[in-house]
Amino acid sequence: MDRIYITGAKGMLGKAAVSVFAERYDIFPGDFHETDVRDAGAIAEEIHRAKPKFVLHLAAMTDVDGCETNPEEARRINAVGTKNVALACRRCDAVMIYVSTGMVYDGRKDSPYVEFDPVSPANAYARSKHEGELAIRDLLSRFYIFSTCWLFGGGRDDKKFVAKVVERARGSRELKAVSDKFGSPTYTADLARGMFGFIESGLYGRYHCVNTGCVSRLEMAREIVTAAGIGNCSLVSVSSDEFPLPAPRPRMEAMRNYNFELLGLSPMRGWKEALGEYVASTFA
Ligand SMILES: NC(=O)c1ccc[n+]([C@@H]2O[C@H](COP(=O)([O-])OP(=O)(O)OC[C@H]3O[C@@H](n4cnc5c(N)ncnc54)[C@H](OP(=O)(O)O)[C@@H]3O)[C@@H](O)[C@H]2O)c1
Repeated sequence: MDRIYITGAKGMLGKAAVSVFAERYDIFPGDFHETDVRDAGAIAEEIHRAKPKFVLHLAAMTDVDGCETNPEEARRINAVGTKNVALACRRCDAVMIYVSTGMVYDGRKDSPYVEFDPVSPANAYARSKHEGELAIRDLLSRFYIFSTCWLFGGGRDDKKFVAKVVERARGSRELKAVSDKFGSPTYTADLARGMFGFIESGLYGRYHCVNTGCVSRLEMAREIVTAAGIGNCSLVSVSSDEFPLPAPRPRMEAMRNYNFELLGLSPMRGWKEALGEYVASTFA
């Protein structure tokens, strides 16, 4: 069995990836102890010892507002940490798989971004993730960068947007949701499956990988409430100015899986079906 080394295996996407990739690969490290990616020597040694065919690098500082208030730490983990993993891949000739974000675009477009749009990260998190992409491109010739958006998943451990909406909607008759920010909500299980189905192709490069569609947080919240069977809470449309946050969020983060389309592939289903399935199986 070929081996895959996964960083960030205990995270939200990491858990989904472990369960999907275990179908075909020997997952390393088996006990998922997290080696700090900031430690270049330790991560190189670990990956070298594992001799993996692939390294799926998911470890990241993902608290967008935390990155804004501590940009140096964001850079240490997301930019330098990614460079450390890329150097380790180069040393043992492993193919690197990196997951990046649609926040690298400027957010001013009126329609979903494609891979050929220019990048212009609007906050420290996005800058550090983009710097990670650049380090990979500088150091490696065999890599996949999958850019994604508004991930949901985690099941019973979910503490993110979906779980918050369900909890608040169950406890109140009215819920405010932002109607001026747009994205492509993406199920971790679908993203893991999409990456899994593509990485043996040898078609290295950068790909958007999102569940299809473009919606506001309000529309996403409405679908969550419906799928969870919560009948007595009404959604109220508000501007993002009502929820000031340390890190600026782009107005548009939605993406189109354009590079897959150009290859004649459509590995991802629509966001509504994916979200409905997740909510119904976890919260209904
Ligand atoms: N969530 C989204 O909407 C989204 C969108 C686009 C791209 N992405 C990217 O997708 C990937 C997975 O995201 P996620 O939502 O699954 O994030 P997550 O749940 O926050 O998981 C990140 C994992 O990285 C680990 N980690 C943090 N700092 C580390 C370090 N210095 N060394 C080693 N491990 C470290 C965390 O461990 P601790 O919990 O112990 O800190 C955690 O297990 C990330 O690269 C993220 O940038 C996410």
